[in-house]
Amino acid sequence: VFASLVQAPEDPILGVTVAYNKDPSPNKLNLGVGAYRTEEGKPLVLDVVRRAEQLLVNDQSRVKEYLPIVGLADFNKLSAKLIFGADSPAIQANRVATVQCLSGTGSLRVGAEFLARHYHQLTIYIPQPTWGNHPKVFTLAGLSVKTYRYYDPATRGLNFQGLLEDLGAATSGAIVLLHACAHNPTGVDPTLEQWEQIRQLMRSKGLLPFFDSAYQVVALVVWWITGGQIENMLGFASGSLDADAQPVRMFVADGGECLAAQSYAKNMGLYGERVGALSIVCKTADVASKVESQLKLVIRPMYSNPPIHGASIVATILKDSKMYDEWTVELKAMADRIISMRKQLFDALSARGTPGDWSHIIKQIGMFTFTGLNGEQVAFMTKEYHIYMTSDGRISMAGLSSKTVPHLADAIHAAVTR
Ligand code: LMR
Repeated sequence: VFASLVQAPEDPILGVTVAYNKDPSPNKLNLGVGAYRTEEGKPLVLDVVRRAEQLLVNDQSRVKEYLPIVGLADFNKLSAKLIFGADSPAIQANRVATVQCLSGTGSLRVGAEFLARHYHQLTIYIPQPTWGNHPKVFTLAGLSVKTYRYYDPATRGLNFQGLLEDLGAATSGAIVLLHACAHNPTGVDPTLEQWEQIRQLMRSKGLLPFFDSAYQVVALVVWWITGGQIENMLGFASGSLDADAQPVRMFVADGGECLAAQSYAKNMGLYGERVGALSIVCKTADVASKVESQLKLVIRPMYSNPPIHGASIVATILKDSKMYDEWTVELKAMADRIISMRKQLFDALSARGTPGDWSHIIKQIGMFTFTGLNGEQVAFMTKEYHIYMTSDGRISMAGLSSKTVPHLADAIHAAVTR
């Protein structure tokens, strides 16, 4: 009965790993998926995660019962605190409905299904470009996807004027997808002043913010290393000024509504555990309670209730101040390595005299560099150098090591000079 089906294409990101796995070359390099690797090119399980798992395993009182539909209560509370700040007025007023979901994608999908059922505007604006899964998640949930300008290839920076024009012309009340930090794939974020302008514009038009926060703390640690203050950014000193300094918190502080999808894939390295949370900030506690009840109706027929293990790891770490601190130290080590890769790649291209301005490699933040290489150049690098990356020219800096930088620099040099 399925004989007439056509072969579907591989996923543009996860399919890169499929192609990489098939390549027998000993020099092959996977810079496709955004997953952290050690200097030895190996996946990393954080020590603090191993320790949390050990504590969980040793605790004989733990059982394997179903979680509630909304997930682990502690995990939900701690996740809301992590993104909105411990002193968030919305949390204090019980105006936030948080549900545990299947990592970032699952949180986005549950949020989108909820909006498609209960929000009066079915149009969502997503940045151009954005993470390749965004348009699919929202379209399949029943939303109508439009784009707003975000990236300027000429400057390899933010097209802020275009962004303001497009959001200014957006249908009033529409949903707007915003990357909370470390925009994927470009690594280009608005400044806090620009965020404030975006906030004012969106609030004046009644546009509903839906934050995708897949890199929280990873980006903040990178920011810290490049000159900021970790106490302020990680919420240790959570004064309201500091809390307001974060894009998501700016939107919460104005008392308006917003949605936020969080992932623990990157910042705790829990990729395969599929741990995430969706929070909907409402105007009153009564509304938040109704929203939560409706989220349960979305989740129950989809996957019933979420898995227990990954969320228990996150809750164990977030609620213990010592483990929390250890986590930030390990995060710093990951961020340090990524920044060092940026410097090394930039230096290697400079040393080769590779034509073009490559300073964006050190300016962009987060896990990715949006190189500016085109599809043809990427295909050349894959064919001739066995380097795997997404066809839009995005490379995962976290997949690179001191040993592989020269190989990548040779490939980029050959691709742009041929
Ligand atoms: C990525 O962009 O590489 C990650 O978010 C992994 C994924 O699921 O696409």
